[in-house]
Amino acid sequence: MVSRPKTSVGNWKLKRNIYISFFTLIVLGMGTFLYINQREVPIEQVFPGKIWSKPIANLPDLKGVGAPTAKNCGNCHTEIYEEWQKSTHANALTDIQFQSELAKPSSPKWICLNCHIPVQNQRETIITGLKNGDYFRPVEIPNPDFNPDMKAEGVTCATCHVRVDSQTKESYVIGGTGGTSPPHPIKIDRKQLLNRCYDCHNETYTLNESLVCSFQTGSELQATHSNQTCSSCHQPEVRRSFVKASLNKPVRTAHKHGFIGGGVPKRFDLYSDQIRLGYKPGIVLSAFKVQNDSIEIQIKNTNADHHVTTGDPERFYRLSIVGFDKIGKSIFQSETTIGQEWSWSPAAKKVNDTRIPSGEIFVWKVKPTELPVESYKFQAVHVRLKNITSNYMIQSSGYLTSPYKEKVENMKDLYPHSSIVIESSYQLKTKSRKDTTLEDLFKRNAERKGE
Ligand code: HEC
Ligand code: HEC
Ligand code: HEC
Ligand code: HEC
Ligand code: HEC
Repeated sequence: MVSRPKTSVGNWKLKRNIYISFFTLIVLGMGTFLYINQREVPIEQVFPGKIWSKPIANLPDLKGVGAPTAKNCGNCHTEIYEEWQKSTHANALTDIQFQSELAKPSSPKWICLNCHIPVQNQRETIITGLKNGDYFRPVEIPNPDFNPDMKAEGVTCATCHVRVDSQTKESYVIGGTGGTSPPHPIKIDRKQLLNRCYDCHNETYTLNESLVCSFQTGSELQATHSNQTCSSCHQPEVRRSFVKASLNKPVRTAHKHGFIGGGVPKRFDLYSDQIRLGYKPGIVLSAFKVQNDSIEIQIKNTNADHHVTTGDPERFYRLSIVGFDKIGKSIFQSETTIGQEWSWSPAAKKVNDTRIPSGEIFVWKVKPTELPVESYKFQAVHVRLKNITSNYMIQSSGYLTSPYKEKVENMKDLYPHSSIVIESSYQLKTKSRKDTTLEDLFKRNAERKGE
């Protein structure tokens, strides 16, 4: 029999204890890691004070109306519904560019949807929190009140007009007029209605290096000390009944609901309604001076109480001047742009900004050619999407599924990229200037393709 020395037993016990402690530590570490990693953090803790971090809570059916869909509102508010259907708001989900950007693996889809389809009833799922506070890992449960028809409605009527009463738990409509007799519950709060625009149109937020939302239209307006509201210009007044004629309601001061902006609609068939629904270029050609040794072009932001361009950082104006000889052949050309410039890596950063603040003038000086120019043609084009950007979207259409995949592949034909907003000719001999009418420009815009 061989007796094992005591020390060896001690060693073995020590080793065993070390193994156990080591193992316990690993299990504890993994547990803590899993706990932290899987722990559900409330959205408001990750995005404190951000209205867009959550949709508007599910809205129950509205008394006298039913489901609070735009289509149902349209049963009585026929003209408003018809106008809104043509708006960018109504197209905020179906927008081909939006679908393309939404599908990118780097986009936190639920955040995008909070502004583009902002009512909970429009969403398949309710987001209860974020795993470990990570905006790429929302915790989702099915939404029992999901309404697929309402989903397609984008920034629908209820976004601005319908809320739930915290006491009765019933839906009501927010109105701005008063003294009216609707069949549905109503609360009058014009200020709330008018301020609603700021929730989405006045936000700058950098989420990661490639995602930036940069809209300062609200602050730009406030800086002008103008007494106009967004709606004064984007919802022009019109005298009419609020509802269809068969309901016999009086004619009142109403507001167009086309929410026209920069004049580049989301589909070609929408061009024909831009002017009727209130489109006006923000800029005017305030001077077109041609001298022997210089051409001076002045562009004034006359009609917008915010910068032009505003909103999406990719928008800009392209100014161009072309000189023609006696037989109408182009012999001279020059171009410049007005807008923002961003560099996207390593971090999103604005590097230049030549946009025109309200009431100010952009001066463009061009050196003329020695060649025998007889006339000049000036154009200002509002560009919403560059050709290189849509090329890139077409290349990455693999992220999308039908029907948007096919739409993105054909977006050169389906998606307006830009519009001519000013065109003017100048005859050197007679020193006379002739501007093309907005109506003529928009007929041509409907036929143009690309940037
Ligand atoms: C069954 C018809 C009907 C439906 C459906 C309907 N409304 Fe109305 N609504 C009216 C009538 C009638 C008035 C009052 C018009 C008047 O007195 O001039 C009105 C008034 C309003 C007003 C203005 C109130 C004020 O004083 O400012 C708003 C805003 C409004 N409705 C929004 C909506 C919205 C949003 C929906 C859909 C969720 C909707 N309505 C659905 C009939 C309807
Ligand atoms: C805070 C609200 C908000 C959030 C969040 C938001 N958007 Fe938008 N989005 C807007 C507004 C407002 C506009 C309109 C600005 C304009 O027309 O210039 C817009 C316009 C757009 C456009 C059209 C741009 C153009 O020039 O036509 C696209 C595409 C878009 N958003 C994609 C996204 C994607 C993708 C996300 C998520 C990463 C997102 N948005 C998140 C508010 C938001
Ligand atoms: C819930 C968010 C939200 C609210 C609130 C909101 N908007 Fe928008 N708005 C958007 C989004 C998103 C777009 C762009 C959709 C796109 O391009 O796909 C947009 C586009 C627009 C455009 C069109 C720009 C263009 O050139 O086509 C105008 C004008 C506009 N909004 C005005 C307003 C006004 C005025 C209000 C307030 C009465 C308002 N918006 C409230 C989200 C919102
Ligand atoms: C982006 C926000 C927004 C959306 C979306 C919107 N409205 Fe309005 N609406 C307003 C504002 C703001 C006013 C009040 C303007 C004022 O009183 O100066 C208004 C006014 C009204 C009025 C009162 C009459 C009038 O013209 O002033 C009715 C009725 C109405 N809206 C119905 C609708 C219906 C129906 C829809 C959808 C088809 C809709 N609205 C979509 C913001 C919105
Ligand atoms: C005094 C009139 C006026 C007021 C007030 C006004 N806008 Fe505009 N807005 C315009 C005009 C004009 C344009 C067209 C600019 C252009 O592209 O030439 C425009 C364009 C826009 C665009 C499209 C982007 C662009 O550069 O074309 C958006 C989005 C917009 N406005 C949102 C708003 C919001 C949100 C408010 C309120 C905070 C507001 N506007 C207040 C007149 C106004």
